[in-house]
Amino acid sequence: MAKTQFNRRNFLQTSAIGASALSLSAASAARVYGANEKINIAFLGVGGRCQQHVDVILQMQKENKNVVPFAVCDVWDGDPKLGNGKGRGLYPTAERCGINVNDKTRVSKDYRKILELKEVDIACIATPDHWHARMSIDAMNAGKDVYCEKPMTRTIAEAQEVVDAAKKSNRVMSVGVQSMADPTWTEAYNYVRSGKLGKVFQGQTSYYRNYLGGQWRYYPITKEMNPKTIDWEMFLGNKFECAGAKIGPSSKEVPFDRAVWAQWRCYWPFGGGMFTDLFVHQMTHLISAMGVRYPARVVGGGGIYLEYDGRDVPDVATIVADYDEGCQVIISATMCNDTQLGEMIRGRLGTLKFTGGGDYMKGFEVYGQNIAGGPAKPKEGLDKPIHTFTNEKSGNATYELWANFLDCVKARKRETLSTPELGAAAFTTVAMGVQSYRTGKGLFWDKSSRKPIDADSSWATKLEARSKQGGKPSQIIGWQGGESGSVVVPPDYMKLGGPWINGQDPSEPGAKKTSISAPKGSDEAVVAEASNSRSGILSKLRRKLKGAAE
Ligand SMILES: NC(=O)c1ccc[n+]([C@@H]2O[C@H](COP(=O)([O-])OP(=O)(O)OC[C@H]3O[C@@H](n4cnc5c(N)ncnc54)[C@H](O)[C@@H]3O)[C@@H](O)[C@H]2O)c1
Repeated sequence: MAKTQFNRRNFLQTSAIGASALSLSAASAARVYGANEKINIAFLGVGGRCQQHVDVILQMQKENKNVVPFAVCDVWDGDPKLGNGKGRGLYPTAERCGINVNDKTRVSKDYRKILELKEVDIACIATPDHWHARMSIDAMNAGKDVYCEKPMTRTIAEAQEVVDAAKKSNRVMSVGVQSMADPTWTEAYNYVRSGKLGKVFQGQTSYYRNYLGGQWRYYPITKEMNPKTIDWEMFLGNKFECAGAKIGPSSKEVPFDRAVWAQWRCYWPFGGGMFTDLFVHQMTHLISAMGVRYPARVVGGGGIYLEYDGRDVPDVATIVADYDEGCQVIISATMCNDTQLGEMIRGRLGTLKFTGGGDYMKGFEVYGQNIAGGPAKPKEGLDKPIHTFTNEKSGNATYELWANFLDCVKARKRETLSTPELGAAAFTTVAMGVQSYRTGKGLFWDKSSRKPIDADSSWATKLEARSKQGGKPSQIIGWQGGESGSVVVPPDYMKLGGPWINGQDPSEPGAKKTSISAPKGSDEAVVAEASNSRSGILSKLRRKLKGAAE
Protein backbone atom coordinates (compact mmCIF):
# COMPACT_ATOMS: atom_id res chain seq x y z
CA MET A 1 0.00 0.00 0.00
CA ALA A 2 1.48 3.32 -1.03
CA LYS A 3 1.21 5.64 1.94
CA THR A 4 2.36 9.21 2.37
CA GLN A 5 6.11 9.62 2.80
CA PHE A 6 6.75 11.93 5.64
CA ASN A 7 9.76 13.33 7.44
CA ARG A 8 9.41 13.18 11.21
CA ARG A 9 11.89 15.81 12.32
CA ASN A 10 10.56 18.26 9.79
CA PHE A 11 6.99 17.66 11.00
CA LEU A 12 7.79 18.08 14.68
CA GLN A 13 9.45 21.40 13.90
CA THR A 14 6.82 22.82 11.59
CA SER A 15 3.73 21.94 13.58
CA ALA A 16 4.85 23.84 16.66
CA ILE A 17 4.95 27.63 16.87
CA GLY A 18 5.53 29.33 13.52
CA ALA A 19 4.06 26.37 11.71
CA SER A 20 3.89 26.52 7.97
CA ALA A 21 1.76 24.25 5.85
CA LEU A 22 3.28 20.86 5.18
CA SER A 23 3.15 19.86 1.60
CA LEU A 24 1.45 16.69 0.57
CA SER A 25 2.62 14.47 -2.20
CA ALA A 26 0.28 14.36 -5.19
CA ALA A 27 0.34 10.57 -4.98
CA SER A 28 -1.20 10.49 -1.53
CA ALA A 29 -3.80 13.16 -2.37
CA ALA A 30 -5.02 11.09 -5.29
CA ARG A 31 -4.90 7.80 -3.40
CA VAL A 32 -7.69 5.34 -4.16
CA TYR A 33 -8.36 2.41 -1.83
CA GLY A 34 -8.53 -1.12 -3.17
CA ALA A 35 -11.66 -3.13 -2.35
CA ASN A 36 -9.91 -5.17 0.36
CA GLU A 37 -7.53 -2.54 1.55
CA LYS A 38 -7.64 -1.72 5.27
CA ILE A 39 -8.21 1.85 6.40
CA ASN A 40 -6.22 2.67 9.53
CA ILE A 41 -7.68 5.10 12.00
CA ALA A 42 -5.83 7.11 14.66
CA PHE A 43 -7.87 8.49 17.54
CA LEU A 44 -6.62 11.81 18.92
CA GLY A 45 -8.14 12.77 22.27
CA VAL A 46 -9.71 9.58 23.58
CA GLY A 47 -11.94 10.97 26.33
CA GLY A 48 -15.70 10.50 26.65
CA ARG A 49 -16.93 11.23 23.14
CA CYS A 50 -14.16 9.31 21.42
CA GLN A 51 -15.31 6.06 23.04
CA GLN A 52 -18.38 6.31 20.80
CA HIS A 53 -16.14 6.61 17.76
CA VAL A 54 -14.17 3.60 18.93
CA ASP A 55 -17.50 1.75 19.38
CA VAL A 56 -18.40 2.53 15.76
CA ILE A 57 -15.09 1.32 14.37
CA LEU A 58 -15.13 -1.86 16.51
CA GLN A 59 -18.71 -2.48 15.35
CA MET A 60 -17.66 -2.02 11.73
CA GLN A 61 -14.80 -4.48 12.27
CA LYS A 62 -17.34 -7.04 13.51
CA GLU A 63 -19.24 -6.43 10.29
CA ASN A 64 -16.07 -7.21 8.32
CA LYS A 65 -15.65 -3.67 7.12
CA ASN A 66 -12.02 -2.87 6.36
CA VAL A 67 -11.35 -0.46 9.19
CA VAL A 68 -8.69 -0.74 11.87
CA PRO A 69 -8.31 1.24 15.12
CA PHE A 70 -4.60 1.68 14.53
CA ALA A 71 -3.26 4.26 16.99
CA VAL A 72 -4.37 6.33 19.98
CA CYS A 73 -3.25 9.60 21.51
CA ASP A 74 -4.22 11.37 24.68
CA VAL A 75 -2.40 13.62 27.14
CA TRP A 76 -3.89 11.63 30.03
CA ASP A 77 -2.96 8.11 31.13
CA GLY A 78 -6.64 7.30 31.55
CA ASP A 79 -8.97 5.54 33.92
CA PRO A 80 -10.36 2.07 33.10
CA LYS A 81 -13.29 2.51 35.52
CA LEU A 82 -14.85 5.57 33.87
CA GLY A 83 -17.40 5.51 31.07
CA ASN A 84 -19.44 2.60 32.48
CA GLY A 85 -16.37 0.42 32.62
CA LYS A 86 -15.28 1.04 29.02
CA GLY A 87 -12.55 3.29 30.32
CA ARG A 88 -11.32 6.63 29.07
CA GLY A 89 -7.92 8.06 28.25
CA LEU A 90 -4.76 6.74 26.63
CA TYR A 91 -4.07 3.24 27.98
CA PRO A 92 -7.65 1.99 28.51
CA THR A 93 -8.53 3.09 24.97
CA ALA A 94 -5.43 1.45 23.51
CA GLU A 95 -6.59 -1.76 25.19
CA ARG A 96 -10.11 -1.37 23.81
CA CYS A 97 -8.60 -0.97 20.36
CA GLY A 98 -6.47 -4.10 20.79
CA ILE A 99 -3.24 -2.12 20.66
CA ASN A 100 -0.31 -3.07 22.93
CA VAL A 101 -0.18 -0.31 25.55
CA ASN A 102 3.62 -0.48 25.48
CA ASP A 103 3.77 0.18 21.76
CA LYS A 104 5.20 3.70 21.95
CA THR A 105 4.76 4.33 18.24
CA ARG A 106 1.02 3.68 18.23
CA VAL A 107 0.22 4.85 21.76
CA SER A 108 1.42 8.37 22.51
CA LYS A 109 0.72 11.59 24.36
CA ASP A 110 2.08 13.57 21.40
CA TYR A 111 -0.29 13.64 18.43
CA ARG A 112 2.53 14.62 16.07
CA LYS A 113 4.16 11.24 16.58
CA ILE A 114 0.92 9.56 15.61
CA LEU A 115 0.50 11.71 12.50
CA GLU A 116 4.00 10.71 11.42
CA LEU A 117 2.90 7.11 11.04
CA LYS A 118 2.62 6.49 7.35
CA GLU A 119 0.16 3.64 8.01
CA VAL A 120 -2.43 6.04 9.44
CA ASP A 121 -5.09 7.00 6.88
CA ILE A 122 -7.63 8.83 9.02
CA ALA A 123 -7.30 11.06 12.07
CA CYS A 124 -10.36 11.09 14.30
CA ILE A 125 -10.07 14.22 16.46
CA ALA A 126 -12.06 14.35 19.70
CA THR A 127 -9.92 16.56 21.90
CA PRO A 128 -11.31 19.71 23.54
CA ASP A 129 -12.19 22.35 20.94
CA HIS A 130 -9.03 24.46 21.15
CA TRP A 131 -7.03 21.64 19.55
CA HIS A 132 -9.37 20.85 16.65
CA ALA A 133 -7.96 23.25 14.07
CA ARG A 134 -4.25 22.67 14.69
CA MET A 135 -4.67 18.90 14.64
CA SER A 136 -7.00 18.91 11.61
CA ILE A 137 -4.62 21.05 9.57
CA ASP A 138 -1.58 19.01 10.61
CA ALA A 139 -3.38 15.78 9.83
CA MET A 140 -4.54 16.93 6.39
CA ASN A 141 -1.13 18.31 5.55
CA ALA A 142 0.28 14.93 6.57
CA GLY A 143 -1.98 13.27 4.01
CA LYS A 144 -4.66 12.00 6.40
CA ASP A 145 -8.40 12.37 5.97
CA VAL A 146 -10.11 13.85 9.01
CA TYR A 147 -13.20 13.17 11.08
CA CYS A 148 -13.18 16.06 13.53
CA GLU A 149 -15.67 16.52 16.30
CA LYS A 150 -17.86 19.59 16.44
CA PRO A 151 -17.36 22.46 16.89
CA MET A 152 -14.99 22.41 13.94
CA THR A 153 -12.62 24.84 15.70
CA ARG A 154 -12.46 27.23 18.64
CA THR A 155 -12.00 30.50 16.71
CA ILE A 156 -13.44 31.91 13.50
CA ALA A 157 -9.99 32.48 12.00
CA GLU A 158 -9.15 28.83 12.65
CA ALA A 159 -12.33 27.70 10.89
CA GLN A 160 -11.30 29.61 7.78
CA GLU A 161 -7.83 28.03 7.89
CA VAL A 162 -9.29 24.55 8.17
CA VAL A 163 -11.54 25.16 5.14
CA ASP A 164 -8.52 26.37 3.17
CA ALA A 165 -6.36 23.45 4.30
CA ALA A 166 -9.01 20.90 3.32
CA LYS A 167 -9.37 22.43 -0.14
CA LYS A 168 -5.64 22.84 -0.68
CA SER A 169 -4.72 19.36 0.48
CA ASN A 170 -7.78 17.84 -1.21
CA ARG A 171 -8.42 15.72 1.87
CA VAL A 172 -11.82 14.40 2.85
CA MET A 173 -13.19 15.87 6.07
CA SER A 174 -16.33 15.29 8.07
CA VAL A 175 -17.28 17.55 10.95
CA GLY A 176 -18.85 15.47 13.71
CA VAL A 177 -22.38 16.87 13.70
CA GLN A 178 -23.98 13.44 13.53
CA SER A 179 -27.50 14.81 13.02
CA MET A 180 -26.37 15.58 9.48
CA ALA A 181 -26.84 11.85 8.83
CA ASP A 182 -30.59 12.46 9.28
CA PRO A 183 -32.33 12.90 5.89
CA THR A 184 -34.92 15.19 7.52
CA TRP A 185 -32.81 18.30 6.94
CA THR A 186 -32.29 17.69 3.22
CA GLU A 187 -35.96 16.77 2.83
CA ALA A 188 -36.93 20.00 4.60
CA TYR A 189 -34.53 22.02 2.44
CA ASN A 190 -36.06 20.59 -0.74
CA TYR A 191 -39.54 21.44 0.55
CA VAL A 192 -38.53 24.94 1.56
CA ARG A 193 -36.68 25.82 -1.63
CA SER A 194 -39.51 24.51 -3.79
CA GLY A 195 -41.40 27.55 -2.55
CA LYS A 196 -44.29 25.64 -0.97
CA LEU A 197 -43.63 27.43 2.31
CA GLY A 198 -43.47 30.78 0.52
CA LYS A 199 -40.76 33.27 1.28
CA VAL A 200 -38.70 32.06 4.24
CA PHE A 201 -38.50 34.50 7.14
CA GLN A 202 -37.34 32.83 10.28
CA GLY A 203 -35.90 29.64 11.66
CA GLN A 204 -35.81 28.90 15.35
CA THR A 205 -34.24 26.24 17.47
CA SER A 206 -33.02 25.68 21.00
CA TYR A 207 -30.94 23.44 23.25
CA TYR A 208 -32.36 23.67 26.75
CA ARG A 209 -30.98 21.59 29.64
CA ASN A 210 -31.13 21.48 33.41
CA TYR A 211 -28.63 19.99 35.85
CA LEU A 212 -28.52 20.70 39.56
CA GLY A 213 -24.73 20.52 39.86
CA GLY A 214 -24.04 23.16 37.18
CA GLN A 215 -23.76 22.37 33.48
CA TRP A 216 -20.75 20.23 32.56
CA ARG A 217 -19.80 19.71 36.21
CA TYR A 218 -21.14 16.19 35.69
CA TYR A 219 -17.78 15.24 34.17
CA PRO A 220 -16.19 13.57 37.22
CA ILE A 221 -12.77 14.41 38.60
CA THR A 222 -10.59 12.03 40.62
CA LYS A 223 -7.38 12.26 42.69
CA GLU A 224 -5.62 10.23 40.01
CA MET A 225 -6.08 13.09 37.56
CA ASN A 226 -2.87 14.92 38.47
CA PRO A 227 0.24 16.36 36.81
CA LYS A 228 1.83 12.90 36.76
CA THR A 229 -0.97 11.39 34.67
CA ILE A 230 -1.85 14.47 32.59
CA ASP A 231 0.58 16.30 30.31
CA TRP A 232 -0.72 19.75 31.26
CA GLU A 233 1.44 21.68 28.77
CA MET A 234 0.22 19.54 25.92
CA PHE A 235 -3.36 20.00 27.06
CA LEU A 236 -2.99 23.79 27.19
CA GLY A 237 -1.27 23.98 23.81
CA ASN A 238 0.47 27.27 24.56
CA LYS A 239 3.48 26.20 22.48
CA PHE A 240 1.29 25.78 19.41
CA GLU A 241 -0.22 28.29 17.05
CA CYS A 242 -3.03 28.35 14.59
CA ALA A 243 -4.32 31.22 12.44
CA GLY A 244 -1.62 33.47 13.89
CA ALA A 245 -2.50 32.97 17.56
CA LYS A 246 -1.50 30.59 20.34
CA ILE A 247 -4.10 27.90 20.64
CA GLY A 248 -4.16 27.87 24.45
CA PRO A 249 -3.04 29.76 27.55
CA SER A 250 0.27 29.26 29.37
CA SER A 251 0.53 27.31 32.61
CA LYS A 252 1.24 30.64 34.33
CA GLU A 253 -2.12 31.93 33.15
CA VAL A 254 -3.92 28.66 33.90
CA PRO A 255 -2.04 26.53 36.43
CA PHE A 256 -2.80 22.82 36.67
CA ASP A 257 -6.39 22.24 37.71
CA ARG A 258 -8.06 18.89 37.19
CA ALA A 259 -11.49 20.56 37.07
CA VAL A 260 -10.38 22.83 34.22
CA TRP A 261 -9.00 19.79 32.36
CA ALA A 262 -12.09 17.61 32.82
CA GLN A 263 -14.70 20.40 32.64
CA TRP A 264 -12.97 22.56 30.02
CA ARG A 265 -16.36 23.51 28.46
CA CYS A 266 -16.89 25.96 31.34
CA TYR A 267 -13.91 28.12 30.31
CA TRP A 268 -13.42 30.40 27.28
CA PRO A 269 -9.81 29.40 26.46
CA PHE A 270 -10.93 25.88 25.55
CA GLY A 271 -14.44 26.28 24.14
CA GLY A 272 -17.41 28.58 23.76
CA GLY A 273 -19.84 27.28 26.36
CA MET A 274 -23.27 26.34 25.09
CA PHE A 275 -22.86 28.64 22.06
CA THR A 276 -20.26 26.42 20.41
CA ASP A 277 -20.81 23.17 22.30
CA LEU A 278 -24.57 22.85 21.83
CA PHE A 279 -25.86 25.54 19.48
CA VAL A 280 -23.50 24.36 16.77
CA HIS A 281 -25.42 21.07 16.45
CA GLN A 282 -28.71 22.88 15.87
CA MET A 283 -27.23 25.66 13.79
CA THR A 284 -25.60 23.22 11.37
CA HIS A 285 -28.75 21.31 10.52
CA LEU A 286 -31.08 24.30 10.67
CA ILE A 287 -29.06 26.41 8.20
CA SER A 288 -28.75 23.41 5.90
CA ALA A 289 -32.56 23.01 5.97
CA MET A 290 -33.20 26.74 5.55
CA GLY A 291 -30.76 27.24 2.69
CA VAL A 292 -28.51 29.85 4.28
CA ARG A 293 -24.88 29.73 5.31
CA TYR A 294 -22.93 32.75 6.67
CA PRO A 295 -25.04 35.34 8.49
CA ALA A 296 -24.88 39.01 7.57
CA ARG A 297 -25.40 40.25 11.11
CA VAL A 298 -25.27 38.56 14.53
CA VAL A 299 -26.19 39.64 18.03
CA GLY A 300 -25.57 37.44 21.06
CA GLY A 301 -27.17 37.93 24.46
CA GLY A 302 -27.26 36.14 27.78
CA GLY A 303 -25.41 35.97 31.05
CA ILE A 304 -24.48 33.89 34.08
CA TYR A 305 -27.65 34.21 36.11
CA LEU A 306 -27.41 31.22 38.44
CA GLU A 307 -24.37 29.03 37.91
CA TYR A 308 -21.92 31.16 39.93
CA ASP A 309 -19.46 28.32 40.35
CA GLY A 310 -16.33 29.88 38.92
CA ARG A 311 -17.24 29.31 35.30
CA ASP A 312 -16.68 31.80 32.47
CA VAL A 313 -19.53 30.85 30.20
CA PRO A 314 -23.18 31.96 30.50
CA ASP A 315 -26.05 29.76 31.64
CA VAL A 316 -28.56 31.67 29.50
CA ALA A 317 -27.79 32.57 25.89
CA THR A 318 -29.58 33.59 22.71
CA ILE A 319 -28.24 34.35 19.27
CA VAL A 320 -30.12 36.32 16.66
CA ALA A 321 -28.59 35.94 13.20
CA ASP A 322 -29.86 37.87 10.17
CA TYR A 323 -29.11 36.86 6.60
CA ASP A 324 -28.73 38.61 3.26
CA GLU A 325 -31.26 36.06 2.03
CA GLY A 326 -33.83 38.10 3.95
CA CYS A 327 -34.42 35.89 6.93
CA GLN A 328 -33.38 35.30 10.49
CA VAL A 329 -32.35 32.45 12.80
CA ILE A 330 -33.02 32.53 16.52
CA ILE A 331 -31.32 30.02 18.76
CA SER A 332 -31.76 30.08 22.46
CA ALA A 333 -31.08 28.10 25.62
CA THR A 334 -30.63 28.08 29.29
CA MET A 335 -28.76 25.39 31.14
CA CYS A 336 -31.25 25.67 34.02
CA ASN A 337 -34.56 24.68 32.38
CA ASP A 338 -35.14 21.93 29.87
CA THR A 339 -38.32 22.97 28.04
CA GLN A 340 -37.47 23.42 24.36
CA LEU A 341 -38.55 26.34 22.21
CA GLY A 342 -39.38 24.09 19.26
CA GLU A 343 -37.51 23.83 16.00
CA MET A 344 -39.23 25.32 12.96
CA ILE A 345 -38.98 27.33 9.79
CA ARG A 346 -41.55 30.03 9.16
CA GLY A 347 -42.58 31.02 5.64
CA ARG A 348 -45.26 33.29 4.22
CA LEU A 349 -47.53 30.36 3.34
CA GLY A 350 -46.70 27.85 6.04
CA THR A 351 -44.71 26.78 9.08
CA LEU A 352 -42.47 23.76 8.87
CA LYS A 353 -42.26 22.27 12.33
CA PHE A 354 -39.63 19.62 13.04
CA THR A 355 -40.93 16.78 15.19
CA GLY A 356 -39.13 14.59 17.68
CA GLY A 357 -35.60 15.38 18.79
CA GLY A 358 -32.09 14.01 19.16
CA ASP A 359 -29.76 12.83 16.42
CA TYR A 360 -32.64 11.51 14.32
CA MET A 361 -35.82 13.56 14.17
CA LYS A 362 -39.23 11.97 13.68
CA GLY A 363 -39.55 14.21 10.64
CA PHE A 364 -41.54 17.39 10.07
CA GLU A 365 -45.07 18.68 9.66
CA VAL A 366 -46.15 21.70 7.67
CA TYR A 367 -49.00 23.90 8.85
CA GLY A 368 -50.64 26.33 6.47
CA GLN A 369 -50.93 30.04 7.10
CA ASN A 370 -54.10 32.04 6.69
CA ILE A 371 -52.56 34.87 4.71
CA ALA A 372 -55.97 36.45 4.42
CA GLY A 373 -56.30 36.62 8.18
CA GLY A 374 -56.62 40.04 9.69
CA PRO A 375 -54.76 41.33 12.74
CA ALA A 376 -55.55 38.54 15.16
CA LYS A 377 -54.55 37.65 18.69
CA PRO A 378 -51.81 34.99 19.02
CA LYS A 379 -53.55 31.62 18.91
CA GLU A 380 -52.88 28.49 20.88
CA GLY A 381 -52.03 25.26 19.08
CA LEU A 382 -51.88 24.42 15.41
CA ASP A 383 -54.33 23.26 12.76
CA LYS A 384 -54.03 19.97 10.89
CA PRO A 385 -50.76 19.59 9.01
CA ILE A 386 -50.96 20.10 5.25
CA HIS A 387 -47.83 18.03 4.68
CA THR A 388 -45.95 15.46 6.75
CA PHE A 389 -42.53 13.91 6.30
CA THR A 390 -41.73 10.85 8.40
CA ASN A 391 -38.08 9.96 8.79
CA GLU A 392 -37.57 6.22 8.37
CA LYS A 393 -34.07 6.30 9.83
CA SER A 394 -33.29 5.49 13.43
CA GLY A 395 -30.37 4.07 15.38
CA ASN A 396 -26.85 5.37 15.65
CA ALA A 397 -26.35 8.58 13.68
CA THR A 398 -22.65 8.67 14.53
CA TYR A 399 -22.29 5.28 12.84
CA GLU A 400 -24.09 6.66 9.76
CA LEU A 401 -21.91 9.76 9.61
CA TRP A 402 -18.84 7.53 9.78
CA ALA A 403 -20.22 5.23 7.06
CA ASN A 404 -20.75 8.22 4.78
CA PHE A 405 -17.31 9.61 5.62
CA LEU A 406 -15.61 6.28 4.86
CA ASP A 407 -17.49 6.01 1.54
CA CYS A 408 -16.26 9.49 0.67
CA VAL A 409 -12.71 8.61 1.72
CA LYS A 410 -12.75 5.57 -0.56
CA ALA A 411 -14.27 7.50 -3.45
CA ARG A 412 -12.00 10.52 -2.83
CA LYS A 413 -15.11 12.69 -2.60
CA ARG A 414 -14.94 15.85 -0.50
CA GLU A 415 -18.74 16.29 -0.26
CA THR A 416 -19.40 14.44 2.98
CA LEU A 417 -22.73 14.85 4.74
CA SER A 418 -21.01 17.32 7.06
CA THR A 419 -18.40 19.29 5.11
CA PRO A 420 -15.89 21.74 6.61
CA GLU A 421 -17.54 24.47 4.51
CA LEU A 422 -20.89 23.90 6.24
CA GLY A 423 -19.12 23.37 9.58
CA ALA A 424 -17.30 26.71 9.25
CA ALA A 425 -20.52 28.60 8.41
CA ALA A 426 -22.40 27.14 11.38
CA PHE A 427 -19.44 27.57 13.71
CA THR A 428 -18.83 31.16 12.58
CA THR A 429 -22.45 32.06 13.38
CA VAL A 430 -22.32 30.72 16.92
CA ALA A 431 -18.80 32.07 17.51
CA MET A 432 -20.00 35.52 16.39
CA GLY A 433 -22.66 35.05 19.05
CA VAL A 434 -19.89 34.51 21.62
CA GLN A 435 -17.99 37.56 20.40
CA SER A 436 -21.10 39.71 20.40
CA TYR A 437 -22.03 38.56 23.91
CA ARG A 438 -18.52 39.15 25.23
CA THR A 439 -17.87 42.52 23.54
CA GLY A 440 -21.40 43.84 23.80
CA LYS A 441 -21.41 44.69 20.08
CA GLY A 442 -23.50 43.62 17.14
CA LEU A 443 -21.37 42.12 14.38
CA PHE A 444 -21.40 41.96 10.59
CA TRP A 445 -19.79 39.13 8.67
CA ASP A 446 -17.33 40.66 6.21
CA LYS A 447 -17.32 38.28 3.25
CA SER A 448 -14.19 39.67 1.63
CA SER A 449 -11.91 39.45 4.68
CA ARG A 450 -13.84 36.43 6.08
CA LYS A 451 -13.89 38.10 9.49
CA PRO A 452 -16.53 39.58 11.77
CA ILE A 453 -16.51 43.39 11.98
CA ASP A 454 -18.44 45.75 14.22
CA ALA A 455 -21.98 46.32 13.01
CA ASP A 456 -23.38 49.77 12.33
CA SER A 457 -26.68 51.25 11.21
CA SER A 458 -26.23 50.23 7.56
CA TRP A 459 -28.25 47.01 7.92
CA ALA A 460 -31.48 48.73 8.91
CA THR A 461 -30.81 51.71 6.61
CA LYS A 462 -30.34 49.42 3.61
CA LEU A 463 -33.59 47.55 4.27
CA GLU A 464 -35.56 50.73 4.92
CA ALA A 465 -34.35 52.10 1.57
CA ARG A 466 -35.47 48.91 -0.13
CA SER A 467 -38.90 49.25 1.39
CA LYS A 468 -39.25 52.84 0.18
CA GLN A 469 -38.26 51.73 -3.32
CA GLY A 470 -40.77 48.86 -3.32
CA GLY A 471 -37.93 46.37 -3.76
CA LYS A 472 -38.18 42.64 -4.23
CA PRO A 473 -37.38 40.26 -1.40
CA SER A 474 -34.19 38.19 -1.42
CA GLN A 475 -34.52 34.41 -1.32
CA ILE A 476 -32.63 31.49 0.17
CA ILE A 477 -29.89 29.56 -1.63
CA GLY A 478 -31.28 27.34 -4.40
CA TRP A 479 -34.73 29.01 -4.38
CA GLN A 480 -37.07 27.55 -6.97
CA GLY A 481 -40.32 29.06 -5.75
CA GLY A 482 -40.72 32.05 -8.05
CA GLU A 483 -42.64 34.99 -6.63
CA SER A 484 -45.47 32.98 -5.17
CA GLY A 485 -45.70 33.54 -1.44
CA SER A 486 -43.25 36.41 -1.68
CA VAL A 487 -45.29 39.52 -2.31
CA VAL A 488 -47.37 42.00 -0.41
CA VAL A 489 -50.89 42.82 -1.61
CA PRO A 490 -51.80 46.20 -0.21
CA PRO A 491 -55.47 46.74 0.64
CA ASP A 492 -57.31 48.74 -2.03
CA TYR A 493 -57.53 51.82 0.16
CA MET A 494 -53.73 52.09 0.12
CA LYS A 495 -54.26 53.79 -3.21
CA LEU A 496 -55.34 56.75 -1.11
CA GLY A 497 -51.93 56.85 0.58
CA GLY A 498 -48.76 58.51 -0.64
CA PRO A 499 -47.21 61.96 -0.36
CA TRP A 500 -49.17 65.00 -1.48
CA ILE A 501 -46.72 66.59 -3.89
CA ASN A 502 -47.50 70.24 -4.66
CA GLY A 503 -50.69 69.81 -2.68
CA GLN A 504 -52.08 67.17 -5.13
CA ASP A 505 -54.04 64.21 -3.70
CA PRO A 506 -52.20 61.09 -5.00
CA SER A 507 -55.54 59.29 -5.44
CA GLU A 508 -56.85 61.89 -7.90
CA PRO A 509 -56.64 61.15 -11.66
CA GLY A 510 -53.34 62.19 -13.18
CA ALA A 511 -51.39 61.96 -9.93
CA LYS A 512 -48.21 59.88 -9.90
CA LYS A 513 -48.95 56.53 -8.25
CA THR A 514 -46.83 53.93 -6.61
CA SER A 515 -48.58 50.64 -6.10
CA ILE A 516 -47.36 47.06 -5.79
CA SER A 517 -49.48 44.21 -7.06
CA ALA A 518 -49.10 40.47 -6.86
CA PRO A 519 -47.78 38.64 -9.94
CA LYS A 520 -50.44 36.79 -11.90
CA GLY A 521 -51.08 33.30 -10.55
CA SER A 522 -49.27 33.86 -7.25
CA ASP A 523 -51.00 32.80 -4.04
CA GLU A 524 -51.43 36.41 -3.14
CA ALA A 525 -53.00 37.20 -6.53
CA VAL A 526 -55.49 34.36 -6.11
CA VAL A 527 -56.43 35.57 -2.68
CA ALA A 528 -56.66 39.13 -3.93
CA GLU A 529 -58.91 38.08 -6.83
CA ALA A 530 -61.22 36.20 -4.50
CA SER A 531 -61.38 39.26 -2.36
CA ASN A 532 -62.22 41.60 -5.23
CA SER A 533 -65.23 39.45 -6.12
CA ARG A 534 -66.30 39.86 -2.51
CA SER A 535 -66.83 36.14 -2.25
CA GLY A 536 -63.38 35.17 -0.99
CA ILE A 537 -61.78 35.05 2.36
CA LEU A 538 -59.87 38.22 1.82
CA SER A 539 -63.04 40.24 1.64
CA LYS A 540 -63.43 39.31 5.26
CA LEU A 541 -59.96 40.60 5.89
CA ARG A 542 -60.73 43.81 4.05
CA ARG A 543 -63.81 44.36 6.20
CA LYS A 544 -61.82 43.59 9.30
CA LEU A 545 -59.05 45.95 8.29
CA LYS A 546 -61.57 48.66 7.54
CA GLY A 547 -63.13 48.07 10.92
CA ALA A 548 -59.74 48.28 12.59
CA ALA A 549 -58.98 51.52 10.79
CA GLU A 550 -62.30 53.16 11.70
N1 LIG B 1 -20.94 15.04 18.45
C1 LIG B 1 -21.33 14.94 19.72
O1 LIG B 1 -22.48 14.62 20.02
C2 LIG B 1 -20.34 15.20 20.80
C3 LIG B 1 -20.60 14.76 22.10
C4 LIG B 1 -19.65 15.00 23.08
C5 LIG B 1 -18.51 15.70 22.76
N2 LIG B 1 -18.28 16.14 21.50
C6 LIG B 1 -17.06 16.87 21.15
O2 LIG B 1 -15.96 15.98 21.30
C7 LIG B 1 -14.84 16.66 21.80
C8 LIG B 1 -14.36 15.95 23.08
O3 LIG B 1 -15.36 16.04 24.04
P1 LIG B 1 -15.38 15.02 25.28
O4 LIG B 1 -16.66 15.18 25.95
O5 LIG B 1 -14.95 13.70 24.84
O6 LIG B 1 -14.23 15.67 26.19
P2 LIG B 1 -13.29 14.88 27.17
O7 LIG B 1 -12.67 15.90 28.05
O8 LIG B 1 -14.02 13.74 27.79
O9 LIG B 1 -12.19 14.24 26.22
C9 LIG B 1 -11.18 14.99 25.61
C10 LIG B 1 -9.89 14.21 25.69
O10 LIG B 1 -8.91 14.90 24.93
C11 LIG B 1 -7.69 14.80 25.64
N3 LIG B 1 -6.76 15.84 25.20
C12 LIG B 1 -6.70 17.14 25.58
N4 LIG B 1 -5.70 17.76 24.92
C13 LIG B 1 -5.12 16.84 24.14
C14 LIG B 1 -4.01 16.86 23.25
N5 LIG B 1 -3.29 17.96 23.04
N6 LIG B 1 -3.67 15.71 22.63
C15 LIG B 1 -4.37 14.56 22.85
N7 LIG B 1 -5.40 14.48 23.69
C16 LIG B 1 -5.79 15.61 24.31
C17 LIG B 1 -8.10 14.90 27.09
O11 LIG B 1 -7.09 14.41 27.92
C18 LIG B 1 -9.37 14.08 27.10
O12 LIG B 1 -9.13 12.74 27.41
C19 LIG B 1 -15.28 18.10 22.04
O13 LIG B 1 -14.86 18.90 20.98
C20 LIG B 1 -16.78 18.01 22.08
O14 LIG B 1 -17.41 19.18 21.63
C21 LIG B 1 -19.18 15.89 20.53
